[in-house]
Amino acid sequence: MERLQKVIAQAGVTSRRKAEELIVDGKVKVNGKVVRELGVKVIPNKDKIEVNGIPIDREEPVYYLLYKPSGVISSVNDDKGRKVVTDFLQLEQRVFPVGRLDYDTSGLILMTNDGEFANLLMHPKHRIDKVYVAKVRGIPTREMLKQLQNGVVLEDGKTAPAKVKMMSIDKKKQTAIVRLTIHEGRNRQVRRMFDAIGHPVMKLKREEYSFLNLRGLNPGESRPLKPIEVKHLRELAVTKPS
Ligand code: URA
Repeated sequence: MERLQKVIAQAGVTSRRKAEELIVDGKVKVNGKVVRELGVKVIPNKDKIEVNGIPIDREEPVYYLLYKPSGVISSVNDDKGRKVVTDFLQLEQRVFPVGRLDYDTSGLILMTNDGEFANLLMHPKHRIDKVYVAKVRGIPTREMLKQLQNGVVLEDGKTAPAKVKMMSIDKKKQTAIVRLTIHEGRNRQVRRMFDAIGHPVMKLKREEYSFLNLRGLNPGESRPLKPIEVKHLRELAVTKPS
């Protein structure tokens, strides 16, 4: 057993004196309960200590790129027992997805336990480009693709300019494959954009997230991000214009 202020100081959070102040100010919790007395002793690495709501034994941050199969929920659990993205990563750390892909959408999704990193990437002002490949019903005309490019009006407002490229058409089946690059991340945005031009999505895959792609991975497979990739993503998010 160790004194609480000593354990906090040893975790590198602050000095022992400052830790004492934080305790007296009610900023420290042990096992979920605020502790204001300085005499309290705790068991390091067993008792759960939080300072200003942040656990002092922060897990080592980890960053993964997952090829989410379709038919999987972008969540850490599902009350209906459906498969979730965390089922595909057997890790000690408790990771969560950065943003989400619909149940029926496959493709690239980042997984991490670093909340600050996730928030940084998800903030709309950071405009991370995401590339989607959609198989749609019918064959959109050039004008319709132009509409997607310029922005279509959805119930939550007009979409930002996008890059659009027709990849292939199947005249017999009356379907088309379209590649769409957007930086917004509204709910079901790609599906709603194609609905807006009268060509509903039949199949959707996110192929790229900024400079990352799915090369070398099959659905359900993942890989850790390289430290340089994590650094690059952080820099991109920080330096993108608002
Ligand atoms: N847009 C969608 O419609 N679905 C996704 O999963 C991602 C983007």
